[in-house]
Amino acid sequence: MGWFSKFINSSIGKKFIMAVMGSFLMIFLIIHLIGNFTLFFGPNAFNGYVKTLDSIKPLIRVIEVVLLAAFVFHIYYGTLLWWENKKTQGGKFIGKYKINGSKQNSSFSARTTFITGSIIFIFLVLHLGTFFWRFNVYDPQNLAENHQYFVIVNEFFQIWWYVALYVIAVILLGYHLNHGFQSAFQTFGWNNKKYFPFIQKTGTVYAIIMALGFASMPIYFFFFYGGNL
Ligand code: HEM
Repeated sequence: MGWFSKFINSSIGKKFIMAVMGSFLMIFLIIHLIGNFTLFFGPNAFNGYVKTLDSIKPLIRVIEVVLLAAFVFHIYYGTLLWWENKKTQGGKFIGKYKINGSKQNSSFSARTTFITGSIIFIFLVLHLGTFFWRFNVYDPQNLAENHQYFVIVNEFFQIWWYVALYVIAVILLGYHLNHGFQSAFQTFGWNNKKYFPFIQKTGTVYAIIMALGFASMPIYFFFFYGGNL
């Protein structure tokens, strides 16, 4: 086996891939949140933002392919790691030494990463199946064609169960990111005793901003905007 496949198949190799892909996804989320914030500035601001993205479509298509690859690798290696951890959960023996199972030495958000990740995946399928689909593929009222993207977002965010699902999913996303952020730093070896508490706090602040930021949009449209167009 070559050194690369040896590395990829090792536990640290899988963690490394997950951390690189996860970091890319975390950066994407910051950009996505900032872009979506134009929703708070009314139809012109948001429609103008999406129109700008539309004008650089070839570049956006490349980013989408990279994004999809990042999700696929992140989910694939995450599932493999989860499965390997599960097999040793009660603790395992290496010679006569017992290695603690993950329950004894990990936090709540670390232990729930697989389940929060799985729910985020379901959310993402729903999210793309509604917004991405309506923006790019299925446009029966020619709203996207006429750059009325704001109307599409407003329509979806008037549906109570859709809004509830978004809020639940982004709270879980917050938990997922809280663990993921510090975990990526640890994998990259930046877990020096002096700076790690700062990294952990930064991760928590990042996770809270993402969760509250993304939750604020469906809540705003449902409770305050009220479909007034
Ligand atoms: C709750 C607030 C959110 C709103 C209003 C929102 C809005 C949108 C819209 C309108 C699009 C379609 C853009 C286009 O096709 O031009 C989109 C795409 C996307 N969203 Fe979101 N989103 C939100 C949250 C999230 C979250 C939490 C995630 C990740 C977990 C996410 C991941 C994505 C991805 C991966 C795409 C496809 C990117 C692309 O086509 O370039 N979104 N979002």
